[in-house]
Amino acid sequence: MCGIIGYAGKENAVPIIVDGLKKLEYRGYDSAGIAIYGVDGFDVVKQKGRLAALEARLVDRTITGCLGLGHTRWATHGEPSDENSHPHLGSKNKIAIVHNGIIENYKRLKERLEQKGVRFASQTDSEVIAQLAENYYNGDLLDTVIHVMNTLEGSYAMGIMCIDDPDTIIAVKKDNPLIIGVSEHGNFMASDVPAILKHTNKVYYLNDKEIAVLKKDSVQFYNIDKESLEKSLETITWSLDSAEKGGYPHFMLKEITEQPKIIQDTIQSALKSGENKTIIDNINIKSFNKIVITACGSAYNAGVVAKYVFEKLCRISVEVELASEFRYKDAIIDEKTLVILISQSGETADTIAAMREAKSKGAVTLSIVNVVGSTIAKETDFCLYTAAGPEIAVATTKAFSAQLVLLYILAVNFAAKLEKIPQETERMLLAEITILPDKVSNILEHVPYIQMYASSCIGYKSVFFLGRNIDYAIALEGSLKLKEISYIHSEAYAGGELKHGPISLVENDTLVVAISNCGRLNEKITSNVEQVISRGAKVLIIGNRTDIQQNEKLSLISIPEIYELFSPSLSVIVLQLFSYYVAANKGLDIDKPRNLAKSVTVE
Ligand code: G6P
Repeated sequence: MCGIIGYAGKENAVPIIVDGLKKLEYRGYDSAGIAIYGVDGFDVVKQKGRLAALEARLVDRTITGCLGLGHTRWATHGEPSDENSHPHLGSKNKIAIVHNGIIENYKRLKERLEQKGVRFASQTDSEVIAQLAENYYNGDLLDTVIHVMNTLEGSYAMGIMCIDDPDTIIAVKKDNPLIIGVSEHGNFMASDVPAILKHTNKVYYLNDKEIAVLKKDSVQFYNIDKESLEKSLETITWSLDSAEKGGYPHFMLKEITEQPKIIQDTIQSALKSGENKTIIDNINIKSFNKIVITACGSAYNAGVVAKYVFEKLCRISVEVELASEFRYKDAIIDEKTLVILISQSGETADTIAAMREAKSKGAVTLSIVNVVGSTIAKETDFCLYTAAGPEIAVATTKAFSAQLVLLYILAVNFAAKLEKIPQETERMLLAEITILPDKVSNILEHVPYIQMYASSCIGYKSVFFLGRNIDYAIALEGSLKLKEISYIHSEAYAGGELKHGPISLVENDTLVVAISNCGRLNEKITSNVEQVISRGAKVLIIGNRTDIQQNEKLSLISIPEIYELFSPSLSVIVLQLFSYYVAANKGLDIDKPRNLAKSVTVE
């Protein structure tokens, strides 16, 4: 789950690589490092901690060179330390590598190399790649890399430089993302588009086991049999601004405020014109007897929302599974099952494994993905893209909202095809979806009130989120957001479960956030609210309620009226802002919460 970048060009690689690493830091921030091919061979600087710590070390160093690699690490094998930071060099200082992934057979390979007298400098699995490459090196770097690839088991995206080859970086991937960018001043490899967007929007997507040989004025592709490959150059439509903070204190706040436009763009792509519409229209929902949705983290929560929407509108059975569980449970699915994979990155290891498991059982797969050309996007039978643009903050906001909207549109489309709703209802539902961007904008006008409320909540040790039906589904996301970025313990419960355990934890310093948008269940959630207040809790109700009398124990953040099943799109904006301002008031590193990474590409 690390970020890697490489540059072979005409300009000084150091600022280019450091700037690229800033855009990749969301992938891991335990340590960072660079290796530059300088006048006297490899100059390597690596440092435990945030990228800022590496930058501070680079201030008094005069490193320059036009070829280099960079890495930002999320530690898996070996604690975060200077020695375990990348880039790694072989012990003869001939080969330098950066790696994202896990080498599963590294212990065996390390033992073998140690028996031959190779001395390892780190505890990482990745170092074995550099040592192995040196061991195999026969004067031809491409042959050596192919030999290494044939020996490694596990996953990797990596960049390799050799001391005998001052003009070349070799980039390869298997089960981890890597793109190749071409610009006027040089060529790039990177884990993700934002790292290179400043220099180019022209990229090649590397497939598993493909090899790119980068020089300052050429990129050549090979397969693992060393046969030359022709690949097509793609143009990225993301703007440069979308990967910059643009005056906001955090990417998360910027991304929250972008949501009206993102929802609008996603609706446009799925309802009006655009590839999503064509794909949705082509899905023959009548050929399935059940839907299984599988994903991780917030994407899973979007799946829980979707279960309520699909079941209510389409009257089709929907199961939602965490991808990490689905992949090992021997799921009962077949060619009559539509498996929906939801993933912002399209690279989450468990979701990829779930997708492959579903395919191996004959199920038809449909993905909802944000990153174009990602593994899940490429391998599923149908792929719908969310129009969220690059999402940098680790805690997702805008991509989640775009996922919800695509899922609603899918549900309405399926319900109509299945003849479960009359045309008039279909029209009404689509109108309600279309009006969502305006309603989200309306909530964003009330940021100061949400901010003020959140600032009074930083002292809570524990927060419970309650809801019933669709409100329960979005309570899950509210709870996840809060714990991710504010480090306050939080749990989400279905209101009906309160008396089956959680109520025993309610005391004076407990905050309960109750979501309340389900008309027929409002009274029931009100009764849950009374029960926790009488046991000392303070309560915040988020919902379209006009009957609430606020008092010292009970506050209300109102949201606009909308068709009940689509209300999560409005509740979630308040929940995101609430979590954001709690964390901001605590002075936390909101965009890079401790121990988390945006893209979990390892198991
Ligand atoms: C990480 C992120 C979450 C995200 C989850 C799934 O945990 O911090 O925000 O929801 O991964 O990621 P995906 O890219 O598959 O949506």
